[in-house]
Parts: sequence; C-alpha cells; structure tokens
Amino acid sequence: QISFGQLRVEFEPNYDESKVPEFEVPDPLRMFNGRKIRNQRRWEKKGRPELLEFFTRNVYGRVPGELGISTWEVVEQSDNALGGKAKRKQVDLVFKKNGRSLHFNILIYLPKNVDNAPVFLGYNFYGNHTITNDVNVIISDAWARNNPSFGIINNQLTEQSRGVRVNRWAVNEIIDAGFGLATIYYGEVDPDKDDFRDGIHPFFYVDAQQRPAADEWGSVAGWAWGLSRAMDYFEEDAEVNENKVVVFGHSRLGKTSLWAGVTDERFAAVISNNSGCGGAALSKRQFGETVARINNSFPHWFCKNFRNYNKNEDALPADQHELLALIAPRPVYVASAEEDQWADPRGEFLSAFYATPVYDLYGEKGIPSKEMPAVNQPIQNTVAYHIRTGGHDVTGFDWEQYIKWATEQLMNE
Ligand code: GCU
Repeated sequence: QISFGQLRVEFEPNYDESKVPEFEVPDPLRMFNGRKIRNQRRWEKKGRPELLEFFTRNVYGRVPGELGISTWEVVEQSDNALGGKAKRKQVDLVFKKNGRSLHFNILIYLPKNVDNAPVFLGYNFYGNHTITNDVNVIISDAWARNNPSFGIINNQLTEQSRGVRVNRWAVNEIIDAGFGLATIYYGEVDPDKDDFRDGIHPFFYVDAQQRPAADEWGSVAGWAWGLSRAMDYFEEDAEVNENKVVVFGHSRLGKTSLWAGVTDERFAAVISNNSGCGGAALSKRQFGETVARINNSFPHWFCKNFRNYNKNEDALPADQHELLALIAPRPVYVASAEEDQWADPRGEFLSAFYATPVYDLYGEKGIPSKEMPAVNQPIQNTVAYHIRTGGHDVTGFDWEQYIKWATEQLMNE
C-alpha cells in the first residue's frame, strides 16, 4: 500500500541547484538521427519541422481541424477612452460548427495619434474588466474560477472584480508608447478546468468522442488557437497593424503565448512572463515544477502524450529551449522573477541561452553568455531575458522592459 505521505514525498519539488540532475542539452541544430544542420535552409526544411512535430504531438497537442471566424461584431466603441488619448473597441468573434457556437470578446485600446498601431495581445485570467477601471468594459458571462477576494462566487464574474488586475497591465504606458493593447478573457475560449465538454475542444469531436485523443490539443493549445483567431480579426481591422503584433502572456498564459508564437508565424514577437514548466523552463532540470507535477495538477493543459515524460525527462528528445528556437528569427523575450523558484528562473534563462544557435543562423543576436545577468539588469537582444526582484506576477518593471524592447525590435523598420 502506497501511503499518501509517500506520494507527497515523491512530488516534493527540488529547489537545490546541486541536486539538478546531469543531462545533455539537446542541440537544436542536430536532427534526432544525429545529422547536423548548418544553414537556415536546412533548419527551415528539416530541423524546424521535426521539432515542431515533436512539440505538437507530444507536448501541446495538435489542433484537429480548422475553424475560422463565422461572424464578428464591434459591440461597443469609443473615441474618447483613457482620458481621451485612446480609442476603445470591444469586438465579439463568433465561431459556429455542427450546431455548436462559441464567442469571445477582444477588448482593444488603440492610441489616438497612431493610424495603424502595433499592439500587444495577451489573455487575462479574470475577465477584460479586471485589467482597467474603465466602467465601459463588458463583464464576461463565461465560467470563471471562484475567487472570493475578487467577489467571484458561483463561477460568475461580477462588477466587484472591475479593475482588480490593473497592476498587471500598463495600459497607459503602452498607449503612450504608441502601441495598442488587445486582451481576451481566456475562459471564453476554454474554461480552465479538466473538462473537455466545454470550450473549443468539442467543436472537432468525431462520433462519440468525449475528449481529445492522446496527440490532440490540451487547453494551452486551445488558448493559443484563440490568439490566432484574434490575429485573423486583426487582419481585417485597418486600425491594427497586423504585422506588428506582440503576443504576451504570464504563467500558464505565458506557456500559451510561446505556443501561439511558435505555431503562428504571423506574430511578430513573443513575450513569456514567468512561464515556467511547459513554458520557457528546461524540463530536464526538474527544478521546481516538473512534468509529472504539472500533468498531475493540470491534466488538461497539455496533450495526453506529454504524460509519457512524467518522471521520465531523460527520454525527452527535445527540451523547451527548442520551443524558443522555433520562434526564430522573430524576437522573443523570456522573463523570470527572483522569488518565483517554482518556475525555475535559471532554467528559463538557460533556455534562452541554448536557443541562441538558431538565432545565430539568421544573424540575430541571442543571449551571448551562460552567465545569468544580475537581477533587474535586462539583456535585450532579439532574444531578451530579465530576472527581476519579487515574485510570480507582472509588474511595472516588466512592462517597462517589454515596451522598450518591442519599440526597438519593431518600430525602427
Ligand atoms: C501554477 C502552475 C504553473 C503556472 C501557474 C500560473 O502555479 O503550477 O505551471 O504557470 O499556476 O498559471 O499562474
């Protein structure tokens, strides 16, 4: 009989650097059969597709079919938002298939003095109305995780949570820098629970299918799918510069922004904030959250095949630095927080470092040294990294860096 005590010990996270197992970091420029990749062409023809296929079938899961926007509608708009410096739009995208229907709302703020604005696009955790005190932002009626401190009971969002996440969204600074901000409540695309009867997944079920097959998408891939549909909409919106969309996400939504950036090359740049395990952190380090741990706590985030690597990281033929490499040559920013050891800051940094050879192929500057920078000392190249003081969060410091970097990467062309 296995006691609960034993189970708990099995899952005790390691926070001791000296206990990180020894392992070989897979070379992103070597095929699984050992062949070396020496140029961009081979990378694009051979290396990249092989790795993309690996992550698709074994980590995030493949999207089983195609589904475009059925209709969209600007449900609310104003030319006089944020004290007059911004335009606001709330756009509802509707998806219909096999008698099912799903909709999600994109809240968009755009600087009034820019015609065709570059934008930051990112999901929020508790509804669009939480990122601002703007009373005009519509409250979603989608399922939400209960959180009494935000007044969320019975899984319903209410007025009480308006503005509770303003600290995580530098809306004013973004607008002042000439960028727009677009955000979506992630629960509208797929409620964050181990239930595949709701959200986007059932749209693609065949026959009596109840949940995705072992290589089919989990929630992270579902949310990434939603970001691509937002991009479809941006292509239709003359006020948004669809060639300069920076996809951003924090934590589980940072895992999501990475996967969206990998699978949809229309995203011009990618930011992963404190994304940790299954995001930017190297799985083979088994530091903080591990593959087994995440698949146990959140069985719906990844595809079922990812469980083959529970307590079996050695068998992974690829690691998360290669996920970052799949974004090359587009800019990618990985950010950690000193107290967020659960997300393994060092593993996030090393990922950015080990992705660099692929950026080198394109003559783009990555992370030049294996030495981690000091806290609050960003390295901002095409591959960027910082570790800031503080915990698992998105802060003003983070946004200050993202805005500066995105301006350098996207605005001087
Ligand atoms: C949990 C989970 C992390 C995730 C985080 C979040 O801590 O273990 O993997 O990143 O939630 O999304 O806030």
